[in-house]
Amino acid sequence: MAMRDHSHSCSHHQNHAKKVPLFPFVSLLCFVSIFLVLSFIRNTSIPSRSNQSIQFPKIGGSDPGISAAPCDYSDGTWIHYPNGRTPRYDNTCKEIFKGWNCFSGNKSNARDLINWQWKPTRCELPPFDPATFLQTYRDTSVGFIGDSLNRNMFVSLFCSLKGVSNEVKKWRPVGADRGFTFLHYNLTIAYHRTNLLARYGSWSANGNGGALEALGYKEGYRVDVDIPEGTWANAPSFHDILIFNTGHWWWAPSKFDPVKSPMLFFEKGQPVVPPVSHDVGLDLVLEHMVKYVENRTRPGAIKFFRTQSPRHFEGGDWDQGGTCQRLKPLLSEQVEELFSLKNNGTNLEARLVNQHLFKALEGSNFHILDITHLSEFRADAHPSTAGGKKHDDCMHWCLPGITDTWNDLFVVQLSNIKVRN
Ligand SMILES: *[C@@H]1O[C@H](CO)[C@@H](O)[C@H](O)[C@H]1NC(C)=O
Ligand SMILES: *[C@@H]1O[C@H](CO)[C@@H](O)[C@H](O)[C@H]1NC(C)=O
Ligand SMILES: *[C@@H]1O[C@H](CO)[C@@H](O)[C@H](O)[C@H]1NC(C)=O
Ligand SMILES: *[C@@H]1O[C@H](CO)[C@@H](O)[C@H](O)[C@H]1NC(C)=O
Ligand SMILES: *[C@@H]1O[C@H](CO)[C@@H](O)[C@H](O)[C@H]1NC(C)=O
Repeated sequence: MAMRDHSHSCSHHQNHAKKVPLFPFVSLLCFVSIFLVLSFIRNTSIPSRSNQSIQFPKIGGSDPGISAAPCDYSDGTWIHYPNGRTPRYDNTCKEIFKGWNCFSGNKSNARDLINWQWKPTRCELPPFDPATFLQTYRDTSVGFIGDSLNRNMFVSLFCSLKGVSNEVKKWRPVGADRGFTFLHYNLTIAYHRTNLLARYGSWSANGNGGALEALGYKEGYRVDVDIPEGTWANAPSFHDILIFNTGHWWWAPSKFDPVKSPMLFFEKGQPVVPPVSHDVGLDLVLEHMVKYVENRTRPGAIKFFRTQSPRHFEGGDWDQGGTCQRLKPLLSEQVEELFSLKNNGTNLEARLVNQHLFKALEGSNFHILDITHLSEFRADAHPSTAGGKKHDDCMHWCLPGITDTWNDLFVVQLSNIKVRN
C-alpha cells in the first residue's frame, strides 16, 4: 500500500527532477517503486488501479468519471471562487489559537482565503463532509503527532467536526497536549506535541569528562535518536489513525544554534562520535522512529507521514525582518523561484526535509500525505502581521485556511485506503 502511495507522488518528484539536477536519486527511487508496484499488482489479487480510483471518492463525492486515472494530488492549481464557499467553521471556533485567527486579527484577505480551492489536474479534491466523516469513523481514534504545524491541522479538523457535532469531551489521551471525543460518535482526535519526534534536552559538559567534552563541547542539546519523546511514546498503540510530521525544528537556528547550542546526537545512550550534523541526525531519528511506530501500532492501524509545510519569508528570514504580505497565491514560476533547491533561498527547508522523509519512508508501511507543493503557492495564507508577534508569522497558517485543504486530502486518502482494505 505504501508503495502505491509513493508512485502517486512520483510524477511530482520527477517534475522536479527535470528542473533540479539534484534529484536523480529520488527519481531512481520512484522508478524502483513503480517497478515494485507493478510486480505487486501482478502477483496479488488486489483490485486494479482503475477500479480503485472509481471507487475512491466515497466521502466528499466527486465526479467518479474524472478520477478514472491515478491522481497526483500535488499537481494542480488554485482556483478562485469570488463569491465564496461556505466555510466549515468560522473565527468563533474556540480552539483556534489567537495568532492563527486571521479574521479576528483583521488580516485584510482573511475572508478571501477560503475562496480558493485546490484543483488537482487529473481529479477532484472536494471539501470533505464532516457529518459523513463522523459517521464513517465512529469508534475511531485519530492522533496528530508533531510540531505546531500539525496542531494547526488538528485544529482545522476539530473545528470542522465541532461545526456539526457539539457534544465533546475534552481530555488528554496518553500524553496528548489536547484531545477531544465527539460523544455521539465515540470519535477521538488528539494532538501530541513533539518537535523532533526523538527525546531531547539541554546538555552541558560534565566535569568527569567524556567523548564530547574531549572534543571541546560545552553546551548543546542532547538528542536521543532511538528514544521517542514521552508526549507520544504511547500514541502508536492507542490511536487507529496516526498523522506524523517533523521538520521545522531541524532547521531552527534560534534554538539549535550549530555553534552556541548544537544538537548532540546519542544512540543507545552513547554520544555519536564523531558528532554528525543535524541533517544526518534527522535521518537517524527518522529511521529509528519509523521502526518504533511500525513495531507498536495496533493491527489495522493506518499511519500517515505528512510532508513539510512550506514557509514564505521574503526579504529575509523570520528574525531578519522577513515578511509575507501577498494577498494572492503565487504563480508557478514564483513557486519555483522561492523553493527550488538550487536557489538556496530562505525557505529552502521545505523541499529539503521531504528528501529526508521520502528516503526514510521508502519500504515502510506509512502513507505519505503530500501537502508541500499545493501549499507552496499560498504565500497569502499565513497570519503575517495579524499573528500579533514581534516578527511576522509566515510559517503557521490562518484558520480557516490551508490546513482545511490538508484535511480534505487526508480524508480522501483515508477513504481510498479503507476501500482497498
Ligand atoms: C472492478 O469493477 C468492476 C465494476 O465495478 C467489478 O465488476 C469488478 O469485479 C472489479 N474488479 C476487481 C478486481 O475488483
Ligand atoms: C480588529 O478590528 C476591530 C474593528 O475595527 C477592532 O475592534 C479590533 O480591536 C481589531 N483587532 C485587532 C487584533 O487588531
Ligand atoms: C470507542 O472507541 C474506541 C476507539 O477509539 C474503542 O476502543 C472503544 O471500544 C469504543 N467504545 C465503545 C463504547 O464502543
Ligand atoms: C519490536 O518489538 C519487539 C517485541 O516488543 C522487540 O523485541 C523488538 O526489538 C522491536 N523492534 C524494534 C525495531 O523496535
Ligand atoms: C546557502 O545560503 C546560506 C545563507 O543563506 C549560505 O550560508 C550557504 O553557504 C549557501 N549554500 C550554498 C550551497 O550556496
